Amino acid sequence: MVEKRNSERINDEDVVSALSSESPEISDNDLESKPIPTIIDDLDIQDIPGIGPTTAKKLRDAGVLTVMDLAVTSSEELSVEINSSKESAAAFIIAAQQLLRDSNLLDKEFVTADVALEKRKSLLRCTTGSNALDKLLLGGIETQAVTEFYGEFGSGKSQICHTLCVTASQPVENGGFGSGSIYIDTEGTFRPERVDQIAVSRGLDPTSVLKSIAVCKVYNSSHLELIVKDLGKYINDFKARLVIIDSIISLHRAEFAGRGTLADRQQRLNSMLHKIIRLTEIYNISVVITNQVQSSPDTFFGDPTKAAGGNVLGHASTYRIYLRKSGENRTAKMIDSPYHPYSDTKFTVTEKGADDMEEETSSKRGKLKE
Ligand SMILES: Nc1ncnc2c1ncn2[C@@H]1O[C@H](COP(=O)(O)OP(=O)(O)O)[C@@H](O)[C@H]1O
Ligand SMILES: [Mg+2]
Repeated sequence: MVEKRNSERINDEDVVSALSSESPEISDNDLESKPIPTIIDDLDIQDIPGIGPTTAKKLRDAGVLTVMDLAVTSSEELSVEINSSKESAAAFIIAAQQLLRDSNLLDKEFVTADVALEKRKSLLRCTTGSNALDKLLLGGIETQAVTEFYGEFGSGKSQICHTLCVTASQPVENGGFGSGSIYIDTEGTFRPERVDQIAVSRGLDPTSVLKSIAVCKVYNSSHLELIVKDLGKYINDFKARLVIIDSIISLHRAEFAGRGTLADRQQRLNSMLHKIIRLTEIYNISVVITNQVQSSPDTFFGDPTKAAGGNVLGHASTYRIYLRKSGENRTAKMIDSPYHPYSDTKFTVTEKGADDMEEETSSKRGKLKE
């Protein structure tokens, strides 16, 4: 019932441009790099083998409007929505993904490792605003990946997010994505004034930066799940290559407090995160999530804090970075990555957002600690 009420309430007006509530559309002039490939115009859901007019109508009624929408759904979700068996829902999804592969919009199932390496070299990376942090990330945040920043309150998570949506709006040759971004704010801490300040102190035009950010304030966990469900559409509408969810867990954590509801919470987080992972690959976007910490009383040695959300979150993030505040400065530690060395670095937060420390701007800039 709650879901239903939310779906009625949520419409495009929930996602507004950071500048104003007027047209949230980002004009092509604001974006200086090549547009994100959208196939909505080129491929129709009925181009998928096995999908005729009747199924297409069912899909459209369920809000699955494009081949990409279908390719990112899960068979559990779809089977409920179109009232079919899980097997036939899965067959539709696989057929949609196959059509994307045949149209070169999705990677082939098997490629040789040298081709994979070439492809990784061509992945876009966006600067965090701090050279030290970029170096820790081996060049900035990546597309086709989920990057998680976790840490205590005040450790700089939201500051990094604000800075990223400024830098993402800049052209690729300047370390940006040349794209719009989507900021999903679950804690009510997004501040357009801060974006304005970061842009101005970096010598950028604040108006066009603000116009490139679509902000969505989310009020409860069902609302967040619905926004994530429709994210593909928003990514296209706002030409976003960066999606920020600040934070991914606070609403679920607050609403599913008791032990008995933990399994339910984890299951819902899990299906949302799987959708997010599929979106990064199919839309070639970068997702940045922030996460809280919890104390882990069973730790006898070392830092007793760990990321909240358990294994479900741990497995969803491609890269996990642990932020800690020490006075004015912050330490960022690469906790989990398929290829980054285990390393840490220091950065700070200034009017420019995430920034290098004073001494780091000299010859030591960005040097990783051994
Ligand atoms: N305009 C600013 N100039 C310098 N530092 C700032 C500015 N705004 C916020 N900060 C710093 O960022 C901290 C808040 O970090 P934030 O990213 O919001 O924390 P969280 O990890 O909880 O999201 C503040 O305590 C302050 O140190
Ligand atoms: Mg925050």
